[in-house]
Amino acid sequence: MLPAIEWKKDKVIMIDQRKLPEKEVYMECEDYNHVAEAIEMMVIRGAPAIGVAAGFGVALGLLRVENEENLDEEFDRIFRRLERTRPTAQNLFWALERMKRTFEENRRLALPQLKKIVVQEALDIEKEDIETNKKIGFLGKDLLQDGQFVLTHCNAGSLATAGYGTALGMIKSAFKEGKKIQVYVDETRPLLQGARLTCWELDRENIPVTLITDNMAGHFMQKGKISLVVTGADRIARNGDTANKIGTYSVAVLAREHDLPFYVAAPLNTIDFSMKDGSEIPVEERNAREVREVGGRCLTLSHVKVENPAFDITPARYISAIITEKEIARPPYKKSLAKLIKP
Ligand code: MRU
Repeated sequence: MLPAIEWKKDKVIMIDQRKLPEKEVYMECEDYNHVAEAIEMMVIRGAPAIGVAAGFGVALGLLRVENEENLDEEFDRIFRRLERTRPTAQNLFWALERMKRTFEENRRLALPQLKKIVVQEALDIEKEDIETNKKIGFLGKDLLQDGQFVLTHCNAGSLATAGYGTALGMIKSAFKEGKKIQVYVDETRPLLQGARLTCWELDRENIPVTLITDNMAGHFMQKGKISLVVTGADRIARNGDTANKIGTYSVAVLAREHDLPFYVAAPLNTIDFSMKDGSEIPVEERNAREVREVGGRCLTLSHVKVENPAFDITPARYISAIITEKEIARPPYKKSLAKLIKP
């Protein structure tokens, strides 16, 4: 299992996902600003991995504080910087709030002790994320049958989490059980997470993978080559509307047209119960260069107008089930998701 992110000797080490699969390069972050930049530049990406990075970012920030004077202001500065990085990933805000709670509960302790507790909390977030993904994989694997062809979009694997993955976790678990699963991977323009990251990850696990361009999904569904779709999620509103990588909505509509199950695999901390529906989810708009260019090479007129929303919202009515670590939620999601957080 390859770790996308690690805490080592009071530093944060990340595999630079912008460079994969060509180069395996690691980036070392020594302060919280560096972690924030790594999230913004997508050295690390994928909602759960962003959450883990944010937890480590807060821990790094507090570790570098030298005296207790202005501790609250310093915490606030760290929190606000990390909060500004990527607006859609719910796990980012969830992790920051959890770190804030830990900070506030232990605020009166001596600084060295407070630092220890905050670092431990960030490490717990990382550990729990791996366990959560394994549970999602265990529950979700029964939705996949021997001999099926699964389509996935973007990367919801080890690289997008602390380890194992959500959508890819389901596929890996089913495969490990002996089911002969084959995976179609959408390349996922503009940043090609499918082509660069998902293909790389599945290939390392010896899971058969076929890369297609995003506009081929309908064709393969029509030909009967795809049995079902599984994706991850960046944020799920309480009615089940789901934000995920741009292009997910089109795939979900196509799946409905072809009577194929469309599954979303995500941890409970991706669900934002404060949001009534998908219209409230903020969709990140990224730099136009990501669309104009591929691998640093301009494909079009350098001044052409571009739109670059990083995510889209799939309405709950297209989603056959949401696989969480606790249970598989089925429609109507307002009811089934609410049940998941009842003690
Ligand atoms: O822009 P990215 O690469 O961070 O987008 C990632 C996705 O959309 C993933 O599908 C999502 O975060 C789920 S990862 C388990």
